[in-house]
Amino acid sequence: MSHKSPLAHTLSPFDDARATPRGRARVLSGIQPTGELHIGNWLGAVRTWVAQIEADVEDTLFCIVDAHAITVPYEPADLQARIEGFALDLVACGLDPEKTTLFVQSDVREHTELAWYLASVTPYGDLGRMTQFKEKGEGKDFVSTALFTYPVLMSADILLYKATVVPVGDDQVQHLELARETARRFAHRFGPVFPEPQPRLSSAPRIMGIDGDGKMSKSKGNAISLFEDKDAFWNKLRGAFTDPQRLKKSDPGRPEVCNIYTMHKALTPSDKHAEIRDNCTGAKWGCVDCKKLLFESFERELVPLRTKREALSAGKLREALGDGASKARKIAAETMREVRDVMGLGSRAAGL
Ligand code: TRP
Repeated sequence: MSHKSPLAHTLSPFDDARATPRGRARVLSGIQPTGELHIGNWLGAVRTWVAQIEADVEDTLFCIVDAHAITVPYEPADLQARIEGFALDLVACGLDPEKTTLFVQSDVREHTELAWYLASVTPYGDLGRMTQFKEKGEGKDFVSTALFTYPVLMSADILLYKATVVPVGDDQVQHLELARETARRFAHRFGPVFPEPQPRLSSAPRIMGIDGDGKMSKSKGNAISLFEDKDAFWNKLRGAFTDPQRLKKSDPGRPEVCNIYTMHKALTPSDKHAEIRDNCTGAKWGCVDCKKLLFESFERELVPLRTKREALSAGKLREALGDGASKARKIAAETMREVRDVMGLGSRAAGL
């Protein structure tokens, strides 16, 4: 058996990235259920997704990846609240379950089934090279096998729906490349079942944590939650890291290295940007003045989202997630029929 045919990459019949019956690209995004969306998720990803759904030119699926969340130690009693809280945040932000397929990964059991099958064409060595595995595993007492095979499950998330486009941040490009190779290897070994998913790199800004130490992340404790109450929100924003060289108000600031300015660019009307830059570089405003203006911009956008979140009922949300899971399951079952067939699995008598 050889996976190294030079023709392997030409076997996919889905090169035009339009694989759905209606001739539309199929887009799949996966999001870890951290419990609460933070302003980095929102500015860096969620707002763009909402715009894409509203544009209505692609079929979109949004998967809350709870099975990925268990690859590191976690509290089972909290996981439901994390999933539901997160789904509520997403819907409040405009991810409308009527217009997109929003579902929870483990509600569709085919994800874990396909992951096992895909593992059979995924070289062990490739997984060991994944930087996220090295980073998350480094120095830990317990590193689960699931953390190691995390990217195989991610490939399954994508290929199960024959997604052609996957919006990712730059930290996930390596995983997506592996998913593309997995589609190719599978095609070479068993025939062309999966299209090669294309990455769509976000043009939205990467928001740093309020401590200035890397990307904003709930697990690092350097995040501001989107639906934090107003005072807590302001207190965190007021303390946020800015230009490290600006120690006193009289020091000129450098907007281009400042996380606060990055957020202004994403949020504050563009006719104000020149004024903000001028007041920063000219040391006319202190950082707190600049943050106050940013806080106003956040308030303008977030007040309607908060109102929407309060109006959403838990019952309606569960119903939406149930509907999302049935829509997803339908596609998943079809793909798995093909997969089991080309791989020679099953008894044929079971009626799967
Ligand atoms: N690994 C992704 C992250 O941490 C989440 C993810 C899981 C994902 N499955 C996916 C992203 C499928 C896109 C497609 O951000």
